[in-house]
Amino acid sequence: MSNPPPRTASQATDPLTDHEYDGIREFDNPTPGWWYWMFGTSVVFSALYLVFFHFSVAGWTVEDSWSNDQRAEFVRVFGSVGQLKADDQSILQQIDNPQFMTIAKAAFIGNCSACHGKDGGGLVGVNLCDESFKNIKHVSDIFKVITDGANAGAMPAWKRTFSDNERVILAAYVASLRGTTPAVAKAAEGEPIPAWPKPAAK
Ligand code: HEC
Repeated sequence: MSNPPPRTASQATDPLTDHEYDGIREFDNPTPGWWYWMFGTSVVFSALYLVFFHFSVAGWTVEDSWSNDQRAEFVRVFGSVGQLKADDQSILQQIDNPQFMTIAKAAFIGNCSACHGKDGGGLVGVNLCDESFKNIKHVSDIFKVITDGANAGAMPAWKRTFSDNERVILAAYVASLRGTTPAVAKAAEGEPIPAWPKPAAK
């Protein structure tokens, strides 16, 4: 099928607009339908994009995918540290390891924040930033609660999800949240407990 020859102004049936600039007149043609479709589609797309990639809680933000990638990388290098111990001092010492705290933070945001809040302030789960705890007296109890859960599964057990080393550094990360100020703090539950011991010199 060949295209019809272009119309000349004299053949035009469309109405002219009433303005004229330097002898140039303009047909009053409506904007084509396909243009409106493209415009509408990009408006809808941008709204969805904004929600998913800037306000997402499902780990779809640029920041979250960066920390997930970083976590995968650090997990790869985990091999070199051997088995970390789960006693109070060994756990507290991990707080000084910025690499491990980055891994633990990513794991916390990906797995724990739905219940404890991104910064540990507490939602369904308890506030981990305050001085009161329900199941914790010692730093090592954090490791135990993460491993086996608490309150008949209200706090799930994570021993199948995370390796021993990952649970040690998660415990260290949770210990480091104590005394920080979350954006929204859930009311304290349990009993106030003594401060963590000072980390022993290495
Ligand atoms: C399904 C919701 C949920 C998820 C997910 C969750 N928790 Fe919990 N967590 C809870 C609840 C509820 C409690 C309080 C249990 C109780 O009442 O004894 C709790 C308690 C705890 C405690 C003990 C606090 C205390 O005062 O005794 C720690 C530590 C903890 N969670 C860490 C974590 C970590 C780390 C993760 C992620 C690996 C995590 N939680 C994921 C719901 C959750």
